[in-house]
Amino acid sequence: MVRTHYEALLEAALQGARLEKHDLITLLSAETPEELSMLFAAAYRMKLRYVGGVVRLRGLIEISNICVKNCHYCGIRRGNTALARYTMTREEILDAARLALEFDYGSVVLQAGERCDREWADWIAGIIREIKELSGGRLGITLSLGEETRETYRKWFEAGAHRYLLRIESSNPELYAKMHPADHHFARREQCLADLGEIGYQVGTGVMTGLPRQDATDLAEDILFFRRHDVDMIGMGPYIPHPATPMGRECGDFDPARALLGARKMIAVTRLALRDVNIASTTALQALAPDGREQGLLSGANVIMPNMSPAANRPAYALYTGKPGLDENAEETRAALEKAIAMIGEKIGYGEWGDAPHSVPKRR
Ligand code: 5AD
Ligand code: SF4
Repeated sequence: MVRTHYEALLEAALQGARLEKHDLITLLSAETPEELSMLFAAAYRMKLRYVGGVVRLRGLIEISNICVKNCHYCGIRRGNTALARYTMTREEILDAARLALEFDYGSVVLQAGERCDREWADWIAGIIREIKELSGGRLGITLSLGEETRETYRKWFEAGAHRYLLRIESSNPELYAKMHPADHHFARREQCLADLGEIGYQVGTGVMTGLPRQDATDLAEDILFFRRHDVDMIGMGPYIPHPATPMGRECGDFDPARALLGARKMIAVTRLALRDVNIASTTALQALAPDGREQGLLSGANVIMPNMSPAANRPAYALYTGKPGLDENAEETRAALEKAIAMIGEKIGYGEWGDAPHSVPKRR
C-alpha cells in the first residue's frame, strides 16, 4: 500500500521528529475518516508512551462565579446581569476538599472568576493553607483564578498551591482582541504566565477551538506558543456559544459534532507535538456529546476534572450552554466517571498529585 504524506508525517512524529508549523497545519487539517482515525491512533500511542493509560483526576471546586472581566464569549462575564452570583463559604470549600480526599482524587482545582482585591487574595491564601493542613499535604492544589499580581501569585504559592491554569484563549492577537473588551490585554496574560513560571508553579494554559474566524494556522501557532513557553499542562475545549453573551448572540448555526471533532483534532496534534505534558479532557467536550470526555481521552488527553461543587451552585457556573452534570452531586459525578473510564479500558490514578512527566525536574 502506498503511504500518504499524512501517514508518513504521523510516523515521523512517533519516531521523535520535531513538528514544525507547516507539519502542524497539515496534521490539523485532517478531514477524511482515514486521516482522522490515523491521527487519533497515533496520538493515543504517543500518550501511552509518555504519560500512560492512567487518567489523572483533579476535583474541580468552582468557588465563585463573580468576575470583574467581561470576555465577549463567557456566560459568567460581568455584563451578564441576569445571573445570580455566589461565592462558596470557607466551610463549603473545605467540605468539597474533604470529599476529594475521601474519594482519593489526589488533587483539587480551585476555580473562580477574576477578582483582584487584597481581601480575596488573603482569603484564598488562608483556604489553601487549610486544605494543605486538613489533607496532611496529600492533596495537590491547582489554582485557576485568572490574572493577578505577582505578589498575589507568590502569596498563594507560599501558602501551598503548586499548579496554576491560565488560558490564553487564542495566541492570535487579532482574534484575542475581537474576543475581549479593549482593556483586556494579551500581553498582560503572557506576563502572568511568565510570573507564574518564575515563582515556581507548574503552569498550564490553553485555548478554545472552533472560534469564529479561527483557522488551522492559528491553532498551529497556539501549539507553538505552548512549546515556546514550555508549559506543563494544557486545557482546551471547543467554543460553545452562550446566548447571554455578545459573541453568542452573533453566532450563526452551531454544529456540535463539528465542534467536538475540531477539539479532538487539536488535542491529538498537541499530544503529538508536546508528548509528555498533561492534557485535560474538558467538560466542554462532554457538553457536546455524552461520551465527549472519553473521546478526548482516546484522542490523547489524560486529565479529567470531575466537578466537586455542590449541586445547588452548578447552574450558576454556566460558562456556555449545555454544561453537563448540573443536576448531579459529587458522588454521582464520580460514579458516572468510573464507569466511563472503565468502558474505554483505562485506569484512574487515585491518590496521586499526578504531575506531568514534563514538569518533574521543576517539582518542589
Ligand atoms: N465556550 C467554551 N469555553 C468557554 N470558556 C468561557 N466561555 C466559554 C464558551 N462560551 C472557557 C474559557 C475560559 C474558561 C473559564 O472557560 O476558555 O478560560
Ligand atoms: Fe471572567 Fe474567565 Fe469568564 Fe473572562 S472567561 S469573563 S475572565 S470567568
